[in-house]
Amino acid sequence: MRVLVVDHPLVAHKLTVLRDKNTSSPVFRLLTEELVTLLAYEATREVRVESVRVETPVETAVGIGLVKPTPLVVPILRAGLGMLEGMTRLVPTAEVGFLGMARNEETLEAITYAERLPDDLTGRQVFVLDPMLATGGTLREAIKFLFKRGAADVTCICLLAAPEGLAALKEELEGKNVTIVLASIDEKLNDKSYIVPGLGDAGDRLYGVV
Ligand code: URA
Repeated sequence: MRVLVVDHPLVAHKLTVLRDKNTSSPVFRLLTEELVTLLAYEATREVRVESVRVETPVETAVGIGLVKPTPLVVPILRAGLGMLEGMTRLVPTAEVGFLGMARNEETLEAITYAERLPDDLTGRQVFVLDPMLATGGTLREAIKFLFKRGAADVTCICLLAAPEGLAALKEELEGKNVTIVLASIDEKLNDKSYIVPGLGDAGDRLYGVV
């Protein structure tokens, strides 16, 4: 498992505004999309491509096309949905599947409550969207699920991670073809498993409390 923290002043700036408790939901949504596009630029460095010929108005040139089937993008509902537009803006031909996962606030275990994915993911390149890597429980279950269906490699795009969650994932997924791409690794988890300093509940900040 590889971890990549994207070091760019615009990433740091947008994340700072997201952290601000006074940032409104509409601005939070917009900034999340923009931030994900910047993270996705780094996360797709190893996207599968092939050489193609293209006719320019002047002559034939050799260029690059995305290999089919194109990557599968999987936002984890609910908060991952707020990241989808930022990802598909960069890879508009990606296929999109959905995983609905939530954590039981008492046991902190991840439960899957919805799934809309191709049955067979053999050899597929998958990008998972989930803003907050806190305990790592949700991502661990999602990644295991995707590998069970045959995925070849899984790249997770997150806004923030806690060191505890990253360590737990690393232990479980060492040697697996998994990359975690992040804007920041924060200080710690608090006793309610929120990331500190974090940005609060990402789903609530994107969509309001429901
Ligand atoms: N999920 C969130 O939305 N925020 C956290 O800090 C941890 C998990």
